[in-house]
Amino acid sequence: MRAVMSRATLSRRWRWLSALLALVVQIWLNPGEAAADAPPGPGQQLYQRYCQLCHAPDGSGYAADNAPSLVSPEFLASADDEFLARGIRLGRPNTAMAAYGKERGGPLSDKEIRQIVSFLRKQGPAAKKLPDVKVTGDASRGKALYRRECQSCHGNPRRAGNAPHLYNAEFLAAASPAFLQHAIRKGRPPTKMPGFEQKLSASEIDDIVAWLHSTRTRTRALPPGKAVVPSDLPLVIHPKGAAPELTLREGRFVPAEQVRRALAEKRRIIIIDARSPSDWIQFHIPGSVPIPYYDTAQLDRVPNDGTWVVAYCACPHHASGEVVDALRKRGFQNTAVLDEGILFWRQQGFPLAGEAVEPKGAAPPPAR
Ligand code: HEC
Ligand code: HEC
Repeated sequence: MRAVMSRATLSRRWRWLSALLALVVQIWLNPGEAAADAPPGPGQQLYQRYCQLCHAPDGSGYAADNAPSLVSPEFLASADDEFLARGIRLGRPNTAMAAYGKERGGPLSDKEIRQIVSFLRKQGPAAKKLPDVKVTGDASRGKALYRRECQSCHGNPRRAGNAPHLYNAEFLAAASPAFLQHAIRKGRPPTKMPGFEQKLSASEIDDIVAWLHSTRTRTRALPPGKAVVPSDLPLVIHPKGAAPELTLREGRFVPAEQVRRALAEKRRIIIIDARSPSDWIQFHIPGSVPIPYYDTAQLDRVPNDGTWVVAYCACPHHASGEVVDALRKRGFQNTAVLDEGILFWRQQGFPLAGEAVEPKGAAPPPAR
């Protein structure tokens, strides 16, 4: 009897010991998975602060403004580290994707950008070396094919659709013909971007690549400027003016037209640009101050005296919504999100200031 019991105890002990051993081996072989509860590394921390608002906590995108996935296997397989770093540094002008690099007035150093890139890289495969694709297709045939197969999602040269704007100057400057070909052939499962390998012939795909490639000489990248935000920007616009009359939709969103009118009538108001300051440098509502969504501690400077505070972004509600939530948490009474966002404001030809604003008479740029 004793012998039986001690054998049972022994086997229980043995089971317990081997489970422990298995765990140790697992942690040793696969530290990433076992450390799921460990604090996030520097790249992930930066990603959480600056990027997840739109690209979602796991990088799969679509948390705001149709921001694409940054971790789909076909994307990571075709986008090398330089493509990712450049996209983060210079952004995609005229979209919700700001330039985050210091050189454009954004918050991130090259080292921090590299840390984010390596965090993203860990979510999927290494980049393949793409073949050197010569552009041999027929651009005019490609243009017609693009209209038929792609425009409903990607929009036309002057107007973005719900998918990334392929006529974007920075995108076309960064995307090689091989990168375009890969995206069109394979698509981006599990996103809405279909693979066209079965639907279009190789030469039709080459025609579309030739068309997109040909438009890049006609798109103009924004000039690199002396990218700094003045340190002495006044917060209150028209400090002596009367309060504006604003009516909010759902107690939160103010139509752009009412804000335009408040400015024209010289009403007392504070306007906060919730985007990265690099975007403010390019173009902004005159008199606005940049207080980005990732740095709401700066709201300490804003007087809490009943003055109307309107925040805006491009996305068109997410970044500005973060700022308005932070203001309301601090007890501000009169706060609102600019309903349609800055890209609509710009499209309407409402007043703008900034480096990328043409002196006068320029056609409005493509906008969502
Ligand atoms: C306010 C929303 C928003 C935030 C915040 C944001 N992005 Fe984006 N991002 C977008 C959108 C929208 C696009 C697609 C733009 C287009 O081409 O139409 C994009 C595109 C990109 C691209 C290019 C992808 C491709 O396939 O070409 C990269 C890379 C990227 N973002 C990385 C980041 C990183 C890293 C951060 C944080 C530092 C970040 N983004 C923050 C909205 C955002
Ligand atoms: C049903 C909608 C839809 C159609 C049709 C479509 N796309 Fe896309 N496409 C998308 C979406 C959504 C993405 C972004 C996917 C992601 O999150 O990575 C995308 C991504 C891309 C990209 C990568 C862009 C980048 O910034 O990395 C290219 C290139 C592209 N599409 C080309 C095309 C072409 C060319 C066609 C027509 C032959 C086409 N697409 C048709 C929805 C579509």
